[in-house]
Amino acid sequence: MANRTAVLIGLGSAVPDQIETNDMLAERMDTSDAWIHSRTGIKARRKVGKDTATSDLAVEAGARALKSAGVATVDAVVLATATPDYQCPATAPTVANRLGLGTVPAYDVGAVCSGFLYALLTAAGLIALGTAGRVLVIGAEAFTTIIDPMDRGTAPIFGDGAGAVVLEAGSPADQGALLGFDLGSDGDLAELIIVRAGGSRQRAAGTEPEPGDYFMDMQGKTVFANAVLRMEESSRKVLASTGWAVGEVDCLVGHQANARILRAVAEHLEIPAERAFINIEQLGNTAAASIPLALTDAHEAGVLQAGDRVLLTAFGAGATWGAVTLVWPALARS
Ligand code: COA
Repeated sequence: MANRTAVLIGLGSAVPDQIETNDMLAERMDTSDAWIHSRTGIKARRKVGKDTATSDLAVEAGARALKSAGVATVDAVVLATATPDYQCPATAPTVANRLGLGTVPAYDVGAVCSGFLYALLTAAGLIALGTAGRVLVIGAEAFTTIIDPMDRGTAPIFGDGAGAVVLEAGSPADQGALLGFDLGSDGDLAELIIVRAGGSRQRAAGTEPEPGDYFMDMQGKTVFANAVLRMEESSRKVLASTGWAVGEVDCLVGHQANARILRAVAEHLEIPAERAFINIEQLGNTAAASIPLALTDAHEAGVLQAGDRVLLTAFGAGATWGAVTLVWPALARS
């Protein structure tokens, strides 16, 4: 097939039942609903209970995406996560197995909040090469498991969840076609968002980690500035390579890091605020899960219509960033 292109044919999401509101946070730390909402746009987030891990959310979202696509088999599973069930092995093989997908290639992609866009590109690459005809791409996080519940710089921001899409080989003219990719990284910024313990630098055995080293440390203000800059730049690059003018974008679905970040990116790009989809209020920042969760919510709410020109963009730890363009497909709503 000439110009073999990945086309989105189904999507789905899952969130844990447990809700933590800003008022609940304010009971245990010096913060308030007004502060958190005005600085981030967040009012509540979902949290996994002790018995739920990332693979549980990934399986639920993956099953819904397969159902939405009307398919029972895929040729590969790519899972974006920064909170795998275990440091070793990867989580994707477990997810593929539990979904009954057989012995297909399954692997994790680690680019934290940009992880879903990185996973989309690797899946689209498998399709373009002819290695796979259909790929399940999942972003899933039990992110609150690496958040210090007493840290007012991070606990108000992050939440748990999963979202998934099914990609299939098609052509660039198809609705659902992923048309452009721009990805980047800057390892000089690795310390901006970091979990120090548990890796090969600060080992589980050997050096004795400080208890807080298993939690994420974030320099919020610097992250904010870099996120706006990189998401804007990456969006401009992918729009140029796709051949779309900014004014042709029907919907900007950005990584839900902070409502103020998303509004700033839209403003810098001169995309009207009402075209920037924001669903952070009830979910918080769910890292690799945030874009597929936002796509599912926007689709179910009727914000995304078949034929819409959609711009995705993300920034995350690493630092990593990216942007993707696609045309929204005609999909049933559940
Ligand atoms: N509740 C109440 N007050 C808080 C608070 C909280 N949860 N967190 C910080 N504060 C206080 C600070 O102590 C500080 O007080 P001071 O002025 O008396 O020193 C003041 O609020 C401002 O703190 P600062 O850290 O400068 O706040 P900010 O405006 O940068 O907002 C974040 C903090 C975390 C909300 C913001 O930096 C942010 O959203 N960054 C991006 C994070 C992100 O998106 N990360 C993921 C990227 S993928």
